[in-house]
Amino acid sequence: MKDRFMHSNIKLDTERLREQDHHWVHPWEDFKTLAKTKRTVIARSEGIYLYDSDGKRMIDGPAGMWCVNLGHGRQDMAQAIAEQAITMPYYSPWSLSNVPASELAEKLAELAPGDLKHVFFTTGGSTAVDSALRFTMYLNNCLGRREKKHIISRQDAYHGSTYLSASVSGKQRDKTNLDFERGFIHILPSPNPYRRPDGMTVEEFCDEKVADLENKILELGPDKVAAFIAEPILASGGVIVPPKGYHRRCLEVCRKYDVLYISDEVVTAFGRLGHWFASEDVFDVVPDMITTAKGITSGYLPLGALFISDRLVKMLGSDAAEKGMFANGYTYSGHPVCTAAALKTIEIIENENLLEHVRGIGPYFQARLRELEDIPIVGEVRGEGLMACVECVGNRETKEPMTLEYEIGSRIDKHCQAMGLLIRPLYHMFVVSPPFVITRAQIDDLVGIMRKGIEKTLDDLVREGLWKG
Ligand SMILES: Cc1ncc(COP(=O)(O)O)c(C=O)c1O
Repeated sequence: MKDRFMHSNIKLDTERLREQDHHWVHPWEDFKTLAKTKRTVIARSEGIYLYDSDGKRMIDGPAGMWCVNLGHGRQDMAQAIAEQAITMPYYSPWSLSNVPASELAEKLAELAPGDLKHVFFTTGGSTAVDSALRFTMYLNNCLGRREKKHIISRQDAYHGSTYLSASVSGKQRDKTNLDFERGFIHILPSPNPYRRPDGMTVEEFCDEKVADLENKILELGPDKVAAFIAEPILASGGVIVPPKGYHRRCLEVCRKYDVLYISDEVVTAFGRLGHWFASEDVFDVVPDMITTAKGITSGYLPLGALFISDRLVKMLGSDAAEKGMFANGYTYSGHPVCTAAALKTIEIIENENLLEHVRGIGPYFQARLRELEDIPIVGEVRGEGLMACVECVGNRETKEPMTLEYEIGSRIDKHCQAMGLLIRPLYHMFVVSPPFVITRAQIDDLVGIMRKGIEKTLDDLVREGLWKG
């Protein structure tokens, strides 16, 4: 078979690549270790596998960053991208339109739930969230409600890395060294049922979390609260699945007080839970806005999209609304090559019945992963569809954090990498969200390596006197 990797026979110099890498300031960089970190260099990829610069093969556990849903190395994706780049790579989206972006907008309007029929294209998830929040401000200003500006979010949420999207994020550890907007942003406690108080049922916990939202709206005054923003599943907060009925009841609270509900589906849309969107199909919610990115192009190119409901658009078209442009947009809004990649992604998901595949294989993935709960340091394995988190604890009864809380995920990752699996460490947790094309046999491999990785980490802790058992 002809080798499709032109460079695969060329021996790469990993040490040299690492020297070069030291000029690259990576996301969440620690500048104290900037030139010392020895990152694995990924050189090529195919299907669910990655190959590092030494040729070592690893399963791509997180599908990049919850995004390479179709798997790596798809010729059809590459072809669609190349064809659009040759036909017309770019033109301004301000006063002109282009073929793939308008085709995609119509297709997305068809796939989106309820009346979410309007799409604003962005460059990724952060800019989609930023645009949703700025649109909320614009809407209320145009409607003469200039006081209605407060935004409510939740602890453990992640919404992005622009100033506004980072401000509505609720991951406390990310908030130590940067500045954030605090005047009109409010963070509610996490809806994580695993961390509910002792003796409280999940139902009682759900009541409490819904009441948190309602009480915050009442405390601020409904005429001052503009929007509630929520990921259906709090992804990088540790794949937190809120209690059953929580989303629906939060939506009802929002409706009661005329507060917009923004569903951040940057991770959960485009099939990760076996549906185009999780909001309605999984959680029974038709929000006012949905933000997406990542899986929309299967990670082949950067693109985000903000969905806006017809109801909101009509409000702005009414006589009650002041005239004025939504002065928000990007050079690459509706980028022809990126939108062509999104159209191809949707076509492949449809033609290969990948939503059905995820719905079929998701329960197997979840069941196999839950077997890891018999390892003494594993507190909980949770998730839905093809996204999951393993949370490690020092004591399973008390759920108290373990010694070395910050590095336990990285230690497990190191062992897993050595055995051919990449996971995504998050302090004392790690997450996995493999490409949709994963098979049952490959899930068995993934779980087998993961078990060994966690057990080896436990052995290390025992050896170092850090785990008494
Ligand atoms: C739920 C959620 N929203 C927003 C973002 C930000 O997306 P991006 O990194 O594409 O800007 C992310 C990224 O992980 C995310 O998980």
